[in-house]
Amino acid sequence: MVAETRLSVDQLVLPLFVRAGRKLRRPVASMPGVFQLSPDELVEDARRAHEVGVPAVLLFGIPERKDAKASGAYAANGIVQEAVRQLKRELPSLVVITDVCLCEYMSHGHCGVVAKGPKGARILNDPTLDLLARSAVSHAEAGADLVAPSDMMDGRVGAIRAALDRAGFSDTPIMAYAAKFASAFYGPFREAAESAPQFGDRRSYQMAGTNPEEALREVALDLREGADIVMVKPALAYLDVLWRVKAEFGCPTAAYAVSGEYSMVKAAAARGWLDERAVTLECLLAIARAGADLLITYAAPDVARWLKEPPGG
Ligand code: PBG
Repeated sequence: MVAETRLSVDQLVLPLFVRAGRKLRRPVASMPGVFQLSPDELVEDARRAHEVGVPAVLLFGIPERKDAKASGAYAANGIVQEAVRQLKRELPSLVVITDVCLCEYMSHGHCGVVAKGPKGARILNDPTLDLLARSAVSHAEAGADLVAPSDMMDGRVGAIRAALDRAGFSDTPIMAYAAKFASAFYGPFREAAESAPQFGDRRSYQMAGTNPEEALREVALDLREGADIVMVKPALAYLDVLWRVKAEFGCPTAAYAVSGEYSMVKAAAARGWLDERAVTLECLLAIARAGADLLITYAAPDVARWLKEPPGG
């Protein structure tokens, strides 16, 4: 009764990976329990999660073809757009959030448009904004409840907000990956989303772990540009940033317990070295205590069930 922090199923967001096909359920080797799903299977997994109380899913798409302008990211009949339509048709009360980024759709695997110059390849920030905005609008047109830009280009929240408003989606909120750090914890995700960069790394657009003050400036910028929810990512290794963001801005704050955080616990649990349930709940409690309102986790369906059981049950 005197608990100062509580975990609730209402806070959970389940990330899901969708690719074209039927009856397709491809395991992601480094993330036991996570699959690339065809839309029909995706609906079933989302249904099972929703039935145990998970209110929201976050969608990532794996397109059939990648190119140098990420065409699949904003195609009206793209895989995410198709998945959103099916989810909203089958499960109208499920909140469908779409990840807005180009890396899964780019042949080179970067989150922005790439130009090759005399000093090597460069990410072109401003030309990327238009493609991100088109992606967000195409997700909203398909029925997405919220869009979540994860690319970390400068000015993308403003560009997406303006484009959504122009297209008649002024009510569609933006959850901005505001403080997203360049992280080795994303390794398993890149297997799941087939989005590893083909050259270089993401450090020219994602943040340096040395710079929490800069993270606060990134969050302030995203809020000024119209972000409704801000996110800190990864979660566990950046709890200080999460705490400062919540303390400084007090706005709805999400934390993403990323793929590597999930895989670490799964790997140790498989060997009997850690108690999966206890460790998962302890980590999520730490993330909530540090200031997160929304908890994005691949373990969401398990967590939802665990929260219903008596402790130690
Ligand atoms: C795409 C994106 C990434 C994640 C979410 N959106 C990977 C990356 O930046 O390479 C990582 C999620 C996870 O590790 O669970 N930009």
